[in-house]
Amino acid sequence: MKMTSWPKILCGNWKMNLIASEAIELSKGLIPLSEKAKKSMIWVAPTFTSISAVQNVLKDTTIKVGAQNIHWESTGAFTGEISHQMLRELCVEFVIVGHSERRQIFGETNEMISKRLKKALENNFYGILCIGETEIERREGATEDIIESQLESCLYNLDMNEYQSLVIAYEPVWAIGTGNVASLDQIESAHKFIRKKLEKLTKDALPPIIYGGSVTPDNFESIISTPEVHGALVGGASLDIQKFTELSQIIESN
Ligand code: PGA
Repeated sequence: MKMTSWPKILCGNWKMNLIASEAIELSKGLIPLSEKAKKSMIWVAPTFTSISAVQNVLKDTTIKVGAQNIHWESTGAFTGEISHQMLRELCVEFVIVGHSERRQIFGETNEMISKRLKKALENNFYGILCIGETEIERREGATEDIIESQLESCLYNLDMNEYQSLVIAYEPVWAIGTGNVASLDQIESAHKFIRKKLEKLTKDALPPIIYGGSVTPDNFESIISTPEVHGALVGGASLDIQKFTELSQIIESN
């Protein structure tokens, strides 16, 4: 099956960082990147409270602004959650679901994540589904089983056309925020495994598979040149305009 025709994706996940004034400053620094990005797309996911301010700075650029979560209901008694209508009102274009921090710290299950993803996709957002194994699971040789069960239980309810707006982020949990970037062999074999699973689920619209976990300008050149890697989900290095600029230059010159 042909690989997707998506441009490469460089997505910054700002997590719970930056108050609005800081997010505005960082966003201003992204404008020149968007002008130079010909082969790649730049996406950023600020905190909910900064989305509007960031959107305002980036509205005339090609950069997509996203959110770090979405609830599966449209309204109601769900303290602390955010709905698709609220995100639509902020002109959000994509959402991240299933991040390991949501899974591990906040106890989100595959069942919840599948409902969040479905809600996002059926409401015409792009959805980045994060999957990946913990250190213990890798040590026990369970990496492929974990990835498979995350994919199956998060994607089982998607319609064929919804795969067109899906992005998979392979993020080994042990690589996130630790400086322990996965080896190129580990990345390639996990991405290949994911692609094979996706090929069974969808016929035409094979989702891009991006890597996340301690991506920096020092390791990105080889990661992005690795077969099957269609971009990156970046935490720490996305908060530093110099580093994010370098990542963007690397992806463009690749
Ligand atoms: P990191 O985070 O780049 O800081 O490791 C990646 C992520 O959590 O998406």
